[in-house]
Amino acid sequence: MVRMPSPDKSKGPSTSLNIFPGNWTIKTQQMLKAFELSFSQNWNPTQFPWDELDAKNFDPKPRIAQAYWMAKLALFEKSGIGAFGFGAVRAAELNYEDPTKKMLASITYDECRHDEVCRRACEKLCPNFPYGYKPQSDFEKDAIKGIESLYEEGKRYWSGFVKAWDTLPPEMIFAGFFFAEIGAETIFNAMRQTSKLEIYRQAFQNITRDETRHLVATMALLRAMAENFDIEQKLRITRQMKQGFIFLSPLLYRPKPDFWRLPSDFDRIDQEMENIARDAGLGVLTLEEKVKFWREAIEKKRGEVEEMGIEIPAIPEIGVEGVDVQVKKNETIATTF
Ligand SMILES: [Fe+2]
Ligand SMILES: [Fe+2]
Repeated sequence: MVRMPSPDKSKGPSTSLNIFPGNWTIKTQQMLKAFELSFSQNWNPTQFPWDELDAKNFDPKPRIAQAYWMAKLALFEKSGIGAFGFGAVRAAELNYEDPTKKMLASITYDECRHDEVCRRACEKLCPNFPYGYKPQSDFEKDAIKGIESLYEEGKRYWSGFVKAWDTLPPEMIFAGFFFAEIGAETIFNAMRQTSKLEIYRQAFQNITRDETRHLVATMALLRAMAENFDIEQKLRITRQMKQGFIFLSPLLYRPKPDFWRLPSDFDRIDQEMENIARDAGLGVLTLEEKVKFWREAIEKKRGEVEEMGIEIPAIPEIGVEGVDVQVKKNETIATTF
């Protein structure tokens, strides 16, 4: 039996989870197209002009600030590797149609490539940042402290994500994957235009193309899943969108304490790092730009999502109107990037 995204309420994650015998069934043409596109849109980050990021080209603060931002981005890329990787295995175990499984694996690979961009940038600018870096000044100590506190919270995110599969139907989790891809496409599409260094422009341009593909695929996933959702399940997707906004807030807004438990001086340090990284040519967006682009990106998708009977949550921080959703502190966030 080929299960295509249809909620079977009688079964939770069952003992019959197995990747074999598998199938080569194609049900979602859009998913197949997105997967096929991943071949022709393949790119190689090792061939970018990395020497532009040679440490000697920058003063200490701009070096650290750029590495800081890349290490911050890496948290979200890693969440993507984990979530889509986990999703690819689970989709195979549930015997989902073939292109869905393959596309999830392809997105996992893309997120590895994005994380590799982060790793290479840090390695050039500031070798061993952040995992093995010995800070030399208060500024550097602040940068490391900021990243460490983010990664600590990353641990909480991941425990919650894994646990969510025990409590939620898998269709529900898969259906929520699209929202962060809206955010990802938004930020990179803007940064490929605001960054002043060729190395960043090339990286962000290619990452944007990946994210556009991810968005097409995860929207197809949402559509396939939502077909069989009742009102309550659709409301749950609205809730997951709000959770997604909160999860992505350190990158796309300001960290929301609804989830993120960060040191009291995190905001100050983070803003200082972002300002310096922007001046160094990284193209980090200002808060005003983040708000504007995030809102526009969600509005662009509003029609398509609402057509499926799924409402958009109110996100007053960025001027998005919709259903009022209260996310509780410590609520499990089953979103991704
Ligand atoms: Fe990514
Ligand atoms: Fe993505």
